[in-house]
Amino acid sequence: MHHFHYEDGVLCCEGVSLANIAKEVGTPSYVYSYSTLQRHFRVMDEAFSPFPHLVCFAVKANSNIAVLRALVREGSGMDIVSGGELFRALRAGAHPERIVFAGVGKTFQEMEYALRVGILMFNVESDQELETLQEVACRLGVQAPVALRVNPDVDPKTHPYISTGLKKSKFGIAIKEAVKEYETAASLSCIQVKGVHCHIGSQITQVTPFVEALGRVLDLVDELRDMGMEIFYVDMGGGLGIQYKDESPPPPKELAEAVEPLLVNRGVTLILEPGRVIAGNAGILLTKVLYLKRGEEKNFVVVDAAMNDLARPSLYGAYHAIFPLKENPPGNLVADVVGPICESGDFLARDRELPFLEQGDLLAVMSAGAYGFTMSSNYNSRLRVAEVMVKGDEFWVVRQRECYEDLVRGEKIPPFLLEA
Ligand code: LLP
Repeated sequence: MHHFHYEDGVLCCEGVSLANIAKEVGTPSYVYSYSTLQRHFRVMDEAFSPFPHLVCFAVKANSNIAVLRALVREGSGMDIVSGGELFRALRAGAHPERIVFAGVGKTFQEMEYALRVGILMFNVESDQELETLQEVACRLGVQAPVALRVNPDVDPKTHPYISTGLKKSKFGIAIKEAVKEYETAASLSCIQVKGVHCHIGSQITQVTPFVEALGRVLDLVDELRDMGMEIFYVDMGGGLGIQYKDESPPPPKELAEAVEPLLVNRGVTLILEPGRVIAGNAGILLTKVLYLKRGEEKNFVVVDAAMNDLARPSLYGAYHAIFPLKENPPGNLVADVVGPICESGDFLARDRELPFLEQGDLLAVMSAGAYGFTMSSNYNSRLRVAEVMVKGDEFWVVRQRECYEDLVRGEKIPPFLLEA
């Protein structure tokens, strides 16, 4: 459920016509619906309300500080993977004691930053990382709260690029090695074992992989407790899928009900790290048709957004629905929707049946609120686009479109090249 709908033939976000946003802010632009973000967070949070839990939004999905702020105000914690994400989370007013920090390559500096701030937990992904964290924490004279990220070897049945819990994946520690690693962790003077973490993948559309993974993690919790360790948190990561086309992912409530029997009276707080399910269908990418190009074998709709703005189609062959802002009559156009970038892989849609379109028409690339702007780049020296947040019948630019000066900020020509 989201708040993008046609009203009198005009596509709106909540109470605002998207065409008005295009007129005032220009294209391409990302547009986020505040009420959808709020609703998605609440649905998730309420689904898990029968047991102690903490929802930590995965900042990588959408890191705009207005989006983070909206979620913080709903009580959300944050799942971060870099110092930059920590900075953003704090700028948005996130509570450090609701921040978890994952990632296979945390640097000394990032560890120090997070320790000084006092985050809830580091999700540690290797033995060397654990030793390093011990060193950094001792130097600061603090205890580092940790969970080890274990790899339950469960197949999430999703795109290979985004499945992360298999044995062959770079993430986490093999579950059969976990006990040994926990013993090490428990013996380190500046490490405080707090929980167990796992994350098996993304865009998962069934509950079974989650239940299987959680079952394995809880067996490990029992084992660790038998050894005398205190485990307060079980972090089951993110990964719940959304509808892009014809998927039918389980609603959060179904997931909560499926895991509930495993969790009753376990004396753990469940941490969830949803990203896509909160932000994905809360955002769209607004773009304009520049040219219609009829080729011999293929037709192309050239738009002003490209793979640098939304990488998912090029990178994963991901499907994003594309709707015209004016409810046009159906046409007989089958075309690739492509951007201006000099790469054949630059497309937003392939062989797509589209309505009747003309030069200058505006389009909404749907389900672009997660892993949209955050994965965008300046490739081809394109300016990163504006981000807009809508609430009711008002909207705000929450990130300005870049300008040419932004492109060269920080770049310098060395003196020897300045000589004539
Ligand atoms: N927690 C951890 C440790 C993660 O690695 C991720 C995502 C999440 C939570 C959030 O997962 P979500 O609930 O959003 O599925 N760029 C790809 C997705 C990469 C996901 C990486 N990790 C895409 O556009 O599909």
